Amino acid sequence: MDNKSEKKPWGGRFSEPTNQFVERFTASINFDKRLGLYDVTGSKAHAQMLEKCGIISSEELRQIDNGLEEIADTIRNGTFKWSAALEDVHMNIEGELVNRIGEVGKKLHTARSRNDQVATDLRLFLRDKTDESVEELKDLVRAIVQLAHKESATLMPGYTHLQVAQPVTFGHHLLAWAEMILRDISRFKNCRSRINILPLGSGALAGTTFPIDRRITAEILGFDDISENSMDSVADRDFVIEFVSAATMTMMHFSRICEELVLWCSQPFSFIELGDAFCTGSSMMPQKKNPDVPELIRGKSGRVYGHLMGLITLMKSQPLTYNKDNQEDKEPLFDTVDTLIDCTKALNLLIPSINPNPSAMSEAAEKGFILATDIADYLVRKGISFRDAHETVGQLVKFAVDQNCQLEDLKLAEFQKANKVFDAKVFDILTPDKALASRSHQGGTAPEQVKKACARIAIRIEKI
Ligand code: ARG
Repeated sequence: MDNKSEKKPWGGRFSEPTNQFVERFTASINFDKRLGLYDVTGSKAHAQMLEKCGIISSEELRQIDNGLEEIADTIRNGTFKWSAALEDVHMNIEGELVNRIGEVGKKLHTARSRNDQVATDLRLFLRDKTDESVEELKDLVRAIVQLAHKESATLMPGYTHLQVAQPVTFGHHLLAWAEMILRDISRFKNCRSRINILPLGSGALAGTTFPIDRRITAEILGFDDISENSMDSVADRDFVIEFVSAATMTMMHFSRICEELVLWCSQPFSFIELGDAFCTGSSMMPQKKNPDVPELIRGKSGRVYGHLMGLITLMKSQPLTYNKDNQEDKEPLFDTVDTLIDCTKALNLLIPSINPNPSAMSEAAEKGFILATDIADYLVRKGISFRDAHETVGQLVKFAVDQNCQLEDLKLAEFQKANKVFDAKVFDILTPDKALASRSHQGGTAPEQVKKACARIAIRIEKI
């Protein structure tokens, strides 16, 4: 504390030193040091703007800029000494600047407050992380599409209520995942447009008495626009909540995808095998190969949901403008960002390792009267109303259940007993491949449609 470099920048009106526990309790340096390089970037742009507006001299800018660059180097090589006595990333860096370049360093904070500074840092950080997330998610869509194209004609049972429903292609099922992720990407892109607004220049809450030009700072930092209201600018954390909410949706999708992976590599399904490199064994049961990675991703969705709940509760009822509560936004945001990016990377490794087992899939598709709807459709084409056709096929299924056989095992006479319009052509439609091929429209499961859908997604991805 008696170290000159650790003097509190706000110490002027205080006559007692900060209580040691309070110092530790209020400090954020342990986690917000992660914003260090963004803080330097923001400060450099701020200093440039101050010089252009005649608020500091060119010589002062030169010294500040050099000092900040040296600090950036020490942050990058891990030698910067962060101090809890200096509370947070902003005061640590400013303190170090003054240590290095002396009095002139104290001019950097002209026309600025930590309130608009932290909002700026957080936006710069999240803009980068949004872009990184989008790139990872695009890779994931590419990996899914690649597998879907390969499996565009592979028959598998489609499910509702986890009961065999209608035949689909494995490729079609995979492209459903791709659509989920593409929607997620558009949510992140949309959220980015509201992240990329400059709050700096709002001061503590009411703006500044100096003749600043916020457009200059925005331009240097690559912001699309400047914020409109200084009070909202320092109080707003919607952009954090929006990102975490988009991440929550993505993690929800990941948990569904992972649940299917776990099911599919379980013995009763055996639809796929995951690469050995992505599974682990059991310390007791020698035969085990466990799908730990998808299980862990499924589990990690919970912490992101929790962060969303935490953040909306954090912001609830806060009076304008900045309150210290807001310091609590960082850990949930950082953890969300890390979890999202790591889980996407894990899936990017996992998806190409999937080894499908087409015979297990088609065997499963032979059970459960999977072609019942196709027979009802056949009757409709013969002029029967869908409701009556449904009833008739229901009776045939009941009969087959009693006989312990499949629909395709029934004799023509048995079909005709249910409805005399049946003819031998009914057996033509009683193959799953026929059922697949006949669903040939945009959005349908026919192999040729899956290939077309893959091509369309490839174009959509490049346009993002
Ligand atoms: N460490 C603070 C935070 O994370 C920075 C802003 C502090 N502003 C203040 N007036 N105490 O929110």
